[in-house]
Amino acid sequence: MTSESRILIAPSILAADFASLGKQVEEATAAGADLIHVDVMDGKFVPNISFGEVVIDAVRRHTDLPLNIHLMVEEPGDLMPSFLKAASDQVIVHAEACTHLHRTVFQVKEQGAEVGVAINPGTPIAAVEEVLPFLDIVLVMTVNPGFGGQSFIPETVDKMRRLRDLIEEKGYSAQIEVDGGIKADDTARDSVKAGANILVAGTAIFNRDETVSAAMGRMRGCLCGLRPGK
Ligand code: DX5
Ligand code: ZN
Repeated sequence: MTSESRILIAPSILAADFASLGKQVEEATAAGADLIHVDVMDGKFVPNISFGEVVIDAVRRHTDLPLNIHLMVEEPGDLMPSFLKAASDQVIVHAEACTHLHRTVFQVKEQGAEVGVAINPGTPIAAVEEVLPFLDIVLVMTVNPGFGGQSFIPETVDKMRRLRDLIEEKGYSAQIEVDGGIKADDTARDSVKAGANILVAGTAIFNRDETVSAAMGRMRGCLCGLRPGK
């Protein structure tokens, strides 16, 4: 990660209207989204079930943007070949869900996808330190995973800063992604200032109060003039 990394906005389809999912993905793409964030939940690692490959395949047909697949599942290594076949450009696994994290990270890389590791709010940075040189992304969860629409946990900002310092000190290239409770306000701004450059936003982008395009415009607007880590 460098301070020159571009700020990327990744709308999370978990908050989309699933009866019009294709249209919602197209709206986010047209509104200038950089990535589409796709939350896969197994009902074990997190207390919620979302969807799997069938939906990923459907989303793939409605956008050319990279899919940022967030696997909230136990032992994601067992699922890997089929998920990668579903055209996953970036695959993020949870450190807490992998008994053999190093092996799982390399399983993703060997399939040619970019790899990320997520850590929950209660998980220290040390949980990713040994695989950090190999990662494209570290996802700092800013809520406890499992549901959209939760409130941002402010203490995670300090974790982003410490992670950014570690990445810079070691000269690694991992980008910092944040996910949970990110809105077009200080939650997004403070995350970027602390070093995050990939912002996931679910309910801030897909909601009943405004169009996807208006929501994306507000998110971009609130980040105006900021650079990651500055
Ligand atoms: C939560 C998911 C998030 C979720 C974020 O466990 O990982 O990606 O969609 O939703 P908001 O932005 O509404 O907090
Ligand atoms: Zn997510």
